[in-house]
Amino acid sequence: MNTQPIGIFDSGVGGTSIWKEIHALLPNENTLYLADSANAPYGPKGKDAIIDLSIKNTEYLLKKKCKLIVIACNTATTNAIDYLRENYKIPFIGIEPAIKPAALQTKSNAIGILATKGTLSSQLFSKTSNLFASNVNVIEQHGDGIVELIESGKLFSNEMTSLLKEYLKPMINARIDYLVLGCTHYPYLMPLLLELLPKHVKIIDSGEAVARQTKAILEKHDILNLGFNKQKNEFFTNGNTEVMASLLDNKFDVEYLDF
Ligand code: SIN
Repeated sequence: MNTQPIGIFDSGVGGTSIWKEIHALLPNENTLYLADSANAPYGPKGKDAIIDLSIKNTEYLLKKKCKLIVIACNTATTNAIDYLRENYKIPFIGIEPAIKPAALQTKSNAIGILATKGTLSSQLFSKTSNLFASNVNVIEQHGDGIVELIESGKLFSNEMTSLLKEYLKPMINARIDYLVLGCTHYPYLMPLLLELLPKHVKIIDSGEAVARQTKAILEKHDILNLGFNKQKNEFFTNGNTEVMASLLDNKFDVEYLDF
């Protein structure tokens, strides 16, 4: 039994999509979420810069006595998780694009993947893609500009619709039947994607799998919170608190923190 919080960090507000899955599966757990929005997006940055930012976020969460850290960011996971695991004792849970289930289930033999440049160019992504999707036509698309629009509160805007139309076009032309969302900001695009994609295309993200893995690792280390005290969920951002609060349906306080 361990009441210390689960720490979660992302390059910004998108990882709240992962926090929601963790909160739903592990309602007893205290959580502390760190949104590094001032440095978003991580996607176009180089590996070293992404590692440095991930260290900064990790150090803050460790200062707050987190018992486990969820890297709720595909770009930070694919570029920094090996370094973090090698250099810190605490367990880290990462998030990777769910390319395996899409590659196994496709009937048209074509799948789309929307992710950041940092994720698609990472070694971890090429390894997973080669392992599970070498016989599948994988249409990769950098989601340039999407994170910036979400971070600035322009999720449902004409700019977002035009970007998505441009990015989905080659996938629709290639007759994909699965679209993999490879960035934790993208689940928030779901209403728009459902409108723009043909009805038969299934959309996959990794949120539920990450929550299940978090539970499994807490069990393995015997650090689940089995208490029934009112849990505490804290949200901090070095960006716009209102944008983040709105993605949490204004049900939680979001504090500005200069970290
Ligand atoms: C980004 O910061 O560019 C996106 C975060 C992610 O890859 O999940």
